[in-house]
Amino acid sequence: MALSPSSRFADSGSSSRGAARILSGLLEARTGQILSENRAWRMETALKPVLRSHGLADIDALAARLIARKEAALEEDVVNALLNNESSFFRDLQIFDMIHRQILPQIHAQRDDRTLRIWSAGCSTGQEAYSIAIQLCNDMARWRGWRIEILATDISTAAIDQAKSGIFTQMDVQRGLAVGDLIKWFEPAGDDWCASPVLRQMIDFRTDNLFDHRAPMGEYDLLLCRNVLLYFTLERRQAVFRMLAQHSHARSVLLLGAGETVIGHSEDFVPHPDFRGGYGRRTGTPAQAEAAFRRAV
Ligand SMILES: C[S@@+](CC[C@H](N)C(=O)[O-])C[C@H]1O[C@@H](n2cnc3c(N)ncnc32)[C@H](O)[C@@H]1O
Repeated sequence: MALSPSSRFADSGSSSRGAARILSGLLEARTGQILSENRAWRMETALKPVLRSHGLADIDALAARLIARKEAALEEDVVNALLNNESSFFRDLQIFDMIHRQILPQIHAQRDDRTLRIWSAGCSTGQEAYSIAIQLCNDMARWRGWRIEILATDISTAAIDQAKSGIFTQMDVQRGLAVGDLIKWFEPAGDDWCASPVLRQMIDFRTDNLFDHRAPMGEYDLLLCRNVLLYFTLERRQAVFRMLAQHSHARSVLLLGAGETVIGHSEDFVPHPDFRGGYGRRTGTPAQAEAAFRRAV
């Protein structure tokens, strides 16, 4: 991986300005993520565990070592540390309410082959996928006899390892998880909590880069790519939407984060006619899509 400095740090007054540019350049080259001002400012703090574990004094020493020799494991640690893995159970409750009350029932009514396929793209430590698995398990009678596939992917190897383990801290479970669901679907694990085997077996967690994924994954009924696109350039967002379109069918539903939209970024998706805040594949002409958009806002 060639390390190229990011221009975002050209005007910084910090003495470690060059190192910050190199490290943010590495993050951008590997993931497409551009460090926000806020996260750039906290770079040194975010990298402290990496500096400690590799015996490095500061980010200048880290940048120098990355330039001096190719070290895949060190690069990986830096990227993992700089990614924003913020997530929580049932994040944006009204979206999960819509999934439960409207989207899943519609898919249930439409899929004659009794197959439900869901993809959580940029799943971080797994709370989004676990939240949907909990909804499905709480509604087991409806889904009996169905083949359910939940794929959850993220570029961060550290996040995927944690997601697979199913282990969450007390703080994690207090953020969004109802006490009833905690008791029903998690087991105490020392000071932490572990998702039950039933939940863990429902989700296929995999490391995957949205810009470079090779596995033939087919089409999904529900795609979630929430709070992932915020730090991508316009071109990269467009590329992600093209890729997501390849994995969706005429009735698929795409859900984004609260501050994200397809408007102006995608030819393939339009506001969903049935689900406010959701998106569906564009079927008509751009003029028809525009009219649908006007009706939806
Ligand atoms: C802020 S978290 C959002 C997690 C979850 N979707 C949610 O809304 O709670 C964004 C995630 O996107 C992942 N990500 C960033 N760039 C990515 C890329 N190029 N491919 C796959 N995942 C990526 C990050 O590792 C991070 O875990």
